[in-house]
Amino acid sequence: MTLPRRVTVFEVGPRDGLQNEKAAIGVDDKVALCDALLDAGLPAVEVGAFVSPKWVPQMAGSDEVLKRVRKRPGARTPVLVPNRQGYERAREAGAREIAVFTAASESFNRKNINASIDESFERFAAFVPDALRDGAWVRGYVSTCFGCPYEGPVDPAKVVEVARRLADAGCHEISIGDTIGVGVPTQVTDVMGRLAEAVPRESLAVHFHDTRGTALANVLAALQSGITIVDSSAGGLGGCPYAPGASGNLATEDLLYMLHGMGIETGVDLAAVTAASRALAPRLDHPLPSRYVQAAP
Ligand code: HMG
Ligand code: MG
Repeated sequence: MTLPRRVTVFEVGPRDGLQNEKAAIGVDDKVALCDALLDAGLPAVEVGAFVSPKWVPQMAGSDEVLKRVRKRPGARTPVLVPNRQGYERAREAGAREIAVFTAASESFNRKNINASIDESFERFAAFVPDALRDGAWVRGYVSTCFGCPYEGPVDPAKVVEVARRLADAGCHEISIGDTIGVGVPTQVTDVMGRLAEAVPRESLAVHFHDTRGTALANVLAALQSGITIVDSSAGGLGGCPYAPGASGNLATEDLLYMLHGMGIETGVDLAAVTAASRALAPRLDHPLPSRYVQAAP
């Protein structure tokens, strides 16, 4: 079995996790969570989203969070940006790394950002070139790569086409999302193999939601396909407000436990991530979904 020696863990909890929480989490708690995750050695922590607060009220205050989070040398603190208005807000708050997002299925994209896939690229064209000129690092997300809550199966050729368009638009990294957690390892091997023929393999990340318990198996399939960047969420928080039934992301703790146990380096302190998730837990109205956190003393 060929596995990478090192994996980059891209933490999405403060964004993908908290965007779906019913309990209102204040700016102070968000900043404390982000700081603790950065202190744990995570090389990238997505700290918020400059989307419409009418659409996703949980992400209001992302400007203050971004301004207050302690920046660590070598660590990224990206924010989600859907359009020019979001980019201007992000730039004012000092964003150096941004993430744009679209999907491989039209119906999901329409529900999520009120745009067709083509229209989302028109929106990106209105600010991504400026962001690149400003020196920003840009990530692109493709949602619903393994299935859509509205359309069902998704053609892998469509995933490849959208990923290639993101690369052509200048994205440095492209995250392949299983938004509703329906993917299985054989599908991951197929999709990642096709993608690696179209865009540089080292620019590809995987983003699994653990809705049906296949996320870690999917990570293993992705690693065997040569992928070395994996998204996860502290405590296993998460979901997308516009994807019915999309429960938690793959938990960062569960991912770290598996990677470290297989001798794969991450540079991240598992105990410190667990402590960060546990410090947030009293603010939530449910237990943390992470299996590792539940089992750890
Ligand atoms: P829209 O209603 O079509 O936008 O929403 P609009 O341009 O017609 O503007 C309507 C109003 O929104 C206006 O305000 C704008 O000013 C305002 P009004 O005049 O009514 O007072 N507005 C904004 N305000 C703040 N920041 C902005 C902004 N843009 C417009 N950037 C829009 C379009 C994209 C804004 C909306 O659909 C939206 O915010 N969607 C976000 C949905 C979202 O955040 N989903 C979750 C993240 S994606 C995800 O979780 C998947 C991922 O994890 C990967 C995976 O798992 O697959 C990444
Ligand atoms: Mg997600």
